Amino acid sequence: MSAPHSLIVVLAAGKGTRMKSALPKVLHKVAGRSMLGHVLDLAGKSAGGTVAVVVGPGMDNVATEAAAIFPGATAYTQHEQRGTADAVLAARPVIEVHAGDVIVLYADTPLIRPETIARIRAKLDEGVNVAVLGFRAKDPTGYGRLLTSGNGELTAIREDKDASDAERKIDLCNSGVMAFRVPRLADLLGRIGNANAKGEFYLTDAVEIARADGLKAAVVECAEDEVLGVNARDQLAEAEAIWQQRARKALMVSGVTMIAPDTVWLSFDTKIANDVKIEPNVFFGPGVTVESGAEIKANCHFEGATIGANARIGPFARLRPGAKLGEDVHVGNFVEVKNVAMADGSKANHLAYLGDGTVGAKANIGAGTIFCNYDGFNKSKTEIGEGAFVGSNSSLVAPVKIGAGAYVGSGSVITKNVSDGALALERSDQKEHPGWAEKFRTMMARRKGKS
Ligand code: UD1
Ligand code: CA
Repeated sequence: MSAPHSLIVVLAAGKGTRMKSALPKVLHKVAGRSMLGHVLDLAGKSAGGTVAVVVGPGMDNVATEAAAIFPGATAYTQHEQRGTADAVLAARPVIEVHAGDVIVLYADTPLIRPETIARIRAKLDEGVNVAVLGFRAKDPTGYGRLLTSGNGELTAIREDKDASDAERKIDLCNSGVMAFRVPRLADLLGRIGNANAKGEFYLTDAVEIARADGLKAAVVECAEDEVLGVNARDQLAEAEAIWQQRARKALMVSGVTMIAPDTVWLSFDTKIANDVKIEPNVFFGPGVTVESGAEIKANCHFEGATIGANARIGPFARLRPGAKLGEDVHVGNFVEVKNVAMADGSKANHLAYLGDGTVGAKANIGAGTIFCNYDGFNKSKTEIGEGAFVGSNSSLVAPVKIGAGAYVGSGSVITKNVSDGALALERSDQKEHPGWAEKFRTMMARRKGKS
């Protein structure tokens, strides 16, 4: 049987009180993207197109994030937190009209891989009606336990608070991910009661009800770190660490060198080509692309930037959104680049601020150069022509253009455009007083001797 189109229901109604945050838990970020974003990305890779997100009352920001990441995702509000079955039923309108599989994911479980969802679907294709993603927990306390029969079928899920002592010893636990290929699922879920230790409507009770109806349930196992649920900030950091480790590994496998991988921080969308070398302590914020052969020296911070092939960046460089560096560009220590396109072979090797503008191919920006882009009200552009040479400690007051091949003398404050090939110099003439130093020293020594 070919896999029918799936509906993915993402549970995101929890307040996440243990985060102690004004922000709903699922909007906290892992690798620069909300946990909800990670789960919706997984949903996008797994679903045939229908995604429902169950949010709590007043969580408009969660619904907005959902729509931004997965356009077409529909938000449903669960008005009271009455348990996971009740949460899924908040999406009843779509469940009732949906003919294919239904997969339930938690928005606070951001590390599940698409391959795992594929394995769950394969289980449904084998003729199983309810497939549950399980894992062997190092410490099963708090999790629902998966009760299996001798032949490997799943017979029931027992919540921790409702489990017998013998059941509590079971280490095979429910991750929370459940997939259903059940006709009229909403009816089945509607039969779940709340006569249990927490007085909640447990989605996990669907297993026993399905079996009583003659349907089949089974477990798909995965590693514990894949189903880490985030309840508090220490677990958020743990999820981040697992995500980072995976992403670094994937990059190294694809041909990126990292001298000290544990000190390189990546974002969900970081793109780094093969033969890029990365020294220790580099942070990639969202939106960064690095092309082949580039060398990133130690202690850099990037965000929203493109680094061209064979470029040499750092140590201690900061690239901010809109920094677009071409091939062979050099950006050295204590240089900040924001919203500037630097064409092939251009250089800013030391101590500079380049904000809002363009730098032509092979232009050279001297140490201490500042693009004065902001007058307190507006931002303006600085345009540097091809092959121009900007002397050290120049202030280029935007809007201003430096012509192709032109020179700007060191220390100049440039407020007017400079023509192609010209030298612009804006500083007072140097005066020299011959023999002055000797006279000065003699006078000072005499004065000191007197007192
Ligand atoms: C649930 C499972 C348990 C599993 C564990 C894995 C049930 C009954 N139990 O337990 O078997 O081992 O997850 O972490 O399903 N939610 C809502 N609305 C609600 C209740 C919950 O949206 O009314 C959301 C929560 O925000 C959360 C998820 O569902 O994202 C799980 O709910 P939670 O109360 O944390 O369930 P657990 O007791 O951890
Ligand atoms: Ca939980």
